Amino acid sequence: MALDGKIAVVTGAAMGIGKSMTEILLQNGAKVTLLDVNTSAGKSLKEALDKQYGREKTLFLSCNVGSDEQIQAAFQKIIETFGGIDIVCNNAGILNESEWEKTVSINLLGVIRVTYLALEHMNKTNGGRGGVIVNTASLAGLGPLLSCPVYTATKHGVIGFTRAMAAASTASGYGVRFSALCPGFVQTNLCSNILDNLGQFSHLTDATQKYVDQGVIKVSEVAKCLLELVTDETKNGEALMVTTNIKKYITFPTFTQ
Ligand SMILES: NC(=O)c1ccc[n+]([C@@H]2O[C@H](COP(=O)([O-])OP(=O)(O)OC[C@H]3O[C@@H](n4cnc5c(N)ncnc54)[C@H](O)[C@@H]3O)[C@@H](O)[C@H]2O)c1
Repeated sequence: MALDGKIAVVTGAAMGIGKSMTEILLQNGAKVTLLDVNTSAGKSLKEALDKQYGREKTLFLSCNVGSDEQIQAAFQKIIETFGGIDIVCNNAGILNESEWEKTVSINLLGVIRVTYLALEHMNKTNGGRGGVIVNTASLAGLGPLLSCPVYTATKHGVIGFTRAMAAASTASGYGVRFSALCPGFVQTNLCSNILDNLGQFSHLTDATQKYVDQGVIKVSEVAKCLLELVTDETKNGEALMVTTNIKKYITFPTFTQ
């Protein structure tokens, strides 16, 4: 899938992995809407991107993935501005074991909410033009991060949702592909602050630090994987793991029904 002229949306785009995703999509010719709750970071990133790519290439909208109203309003604005949606990167997420309900709400419910509202515009059976949705899960979606049970649960949920949506979309003719990114630790604020956000598992700081010490990758490595999942039209229902020394598509057990 060539990205020239495609319309992309990235949640949690103001910093970290989302910022890098925004940049790689722009470099490959897409127009990108940045959605984030951090309005000041979002606006200053938009200003920097305007200088590099031109004002008409991006849109920043303050938007909380926890709010149906804000997402609906954002999608309406995107349709008015760019005329459609081809690519959605469900990337906004937090890690905070103290605020575990908020973690579920943003990391899992937010992905589901944005996906269902995006499909109203993308689904070919509703008059949309199809496209691709890539969800940022985590290595913690494939196996347990011992000090973060709720974060682990949300990311397992994201992978399950992504794979089931890929199957549902194929069977229903939506024309929308779905895949999940599963990075290990990545150089962002979320990763730098992890030890302060373990809540009742703060006694597992040393064990967590040991995992982090095994290696932290750059945001640009995750963005390259996003580009692969978006552009390669054979990728659907995939979970792509990426760490300092491994990049691989995960094989899951299959069940006959
Ligand atoms: N950094 C890592 O080690 C790592 C590893 C694997 C997966 N991830 C996942 O990658 C994604 C991005 O994380 P990051 O490391 O770039 O974190 P980050 O904290 O650097 O950036 C997250 C961005 O999401 C935004 N955000 C938070 N809550 C939001 C909400 N309710 N609505 C809209 N935007 C919101 C923040 O304002 C911020 O700009 C998350 O889903 C995270 O779980 C991160």
